[in-house]
Amino acid sequence: PTGAKSVEDELFEQELRRAQAEMINENHANALRAFNTLTNTYAHKPLAHLRRAQALERIAELRRSNQMLVDAIESYKRYLAFDESITSIEYRTAGERCIEHMRFLGHTQQAVDIHELLIERYPEEVQLRNQLSLTYLMSNNLFKLRQVSRDTLKRWPQDPLAQLHFGLTLKQLDSDYAQALPYLQRAIDSQAAGTQEPYFYLALGETLQRLGKQTEALQLYERGVKRGYFASVYQRSLYNVPRLRAQPFWQIVDTDQVEELKQLQRNWRSIRNEALALLNVKGNFQLEAEQLRDTGNWQQFELFARGQRLQRNCQRAPITCALLDKLPAASGCRRGQIKFSAMQAQTHVWPHCGPTNCRLRAHLTLVAPEPHLTSLRVAEQERTWHEGDLFIFDDSFEHEVWHNGTQLRLVLILDLWHPDLTVEQRRRLTPI
Ligand code: LMR
Ligand code: MN
Repeated sequence: PTGAKSVEDELFEQELRRAQAEMINENHANALRAFNTLTNTYAHKPLAHLRRAQALERIAELRRSNQMLVDAIESYKRYLAFDESITSIEYRTAGERCIEHMRFLGHTQQAVDIHELLIERYPEEVQLRNQLSLTYLMSNNLFKLRQVSRDTLKRWPQDPLAQLHFGLTLKQLDSDYAQALPYLQRAIDSQAAGTQEPYFYLALGETLQRLGKQTEALQLYERGVKRGYFASVYQRSLYNVPRLRAQPFWQIVDTDQVEELKQLQRNWRSIRNEALALLNVKGNFQLEAEQLRDTGNWQQFELFARGQRLQRNCQRAPITCALLDKLPAASGCRRGQIKFSAMQAQTHVWPHCGPTNCRLRAHLTLVAPEPHLTSLRVAEQERTWHEGDLFIFDDSFEHEVWHNGTQLRLVLILDLWHPDLTVEQRRRLTPI
C-alpha cells in the first residue's frame, strides 16, 4: 500500500540500525558481518552498499588498511552503479569520497570512470570537471589535463580552477609563458577555493621569471612565504622536513661524508673516462625533460634513482657505480639521484628549485675547459666548474645555469641525504 512501509523495508531498516550500532560501539568485526549480511540480503538496495562503504572506509582509516580501502571502494562502486533517480547530495559526496580513495591508491583510471559518471549525472557542475582535471594533474597526465580544462573553459571561461589548469599546460606543455601568464595570474589573484596551493604559486612565479618579470616573481614568492608555502623566497622546495640547516652552498667538511667524498674525488679521472665513453655512443644520454631549459642542449645518464641502483646503466659504468656503492648516503638516498650531466655550449637553464630539502647536491666536475664562461647561481651566490673539483649546494634553493662557452661541460651529480636527517627519518621518508 502506498504511504506505508513494506515489511521488507521495515526489516531492512532494522538490520541497518543494528549494523550501525555495532559501528558506534566499535565492534568492527560484528559491524562488518552485519553489513555483509545486509548487502547480500538486500543487494537491490543502494543504501545497503553506501552504508557498508562508509563503515569500511572508517575502519580502513583506523587500521590504516589499504585492503579495507579497496573493499570500501568496491562497495561505493556498487552503490554508484544504481541508475535510478539518486541525485541526492549523498550520491555526489559518495562519488567524491570514492575518487579520493582511488587517487590515494594511485588507481587513476578507476577514478576517471567515477568522475565521468558524476559529470554525466550533474552536467551543470563545473566543480566536478575541475576535480577530473585535478586527478589528471596529480597523475601527471598533462595532455588529458589540457583537454579537460580546455573543454571546461569553453562553457565556463571565467572559472578560476579551469583557468589555472589550462594555464599550467600552456607553461609545461607548450612553453608558452606569455599565454600562460594571464590564466595563472587571474586564477591565483581570484583566491578561489583550490587555487591557493604552493605548487600553483611556484608555477606562476616561474612563468613570471621566464618572462623577465623578476620583481613581480619575488613579490609573489614573498606572498608564498607569508602563507607558509615556502621556507624562504629562494628556498621553494615542496617536500620538506622542518628545521634542517639550509644554506645555498656547503663545505665538504660540514657534511657527514668527508672521507667518502674525498675518496670519490680522488678517482675523478676514471669516472670521467667512463662517462666520456658513454657519451660517445648516441642515445645513451637522455634529454632533460622537465622544460627547465631555455636554450641549448643538456643531457643526463642516470646511475641511481630514489635510492635504487639502475643495474643496466651501472653495468655500463662499473667503476663509477662500484665507487658509489661505498657511498650509501648518496646511492641509498631515496630523495635523489646520481647521474652524469652533460651540458653543451650555449645552454641556459631557467631558475628552478629541486623538490625537497632532504638532500644536498654534489657536483664532481669531469670536463670543464672554460670555467670563465660557465656559471651556476644558487640564490645570490655564483660559482663555476673546475676539473677534478667537488662542490656541494642545496638544490632546494633557486638555481640557474649558464654555459656561454664553446665546449662540453660534464659533471657527476650526486644527491646525498641531508646530514641533519636521522637514520630513522632516512628510512621512513617517501621516495622522490
Ligand atoms: C641542476 O641541478 O639543475 C644543475 O646544476 C645541473 C647541471 O648539470 O648543472
Ligand atoms: Mn636543478
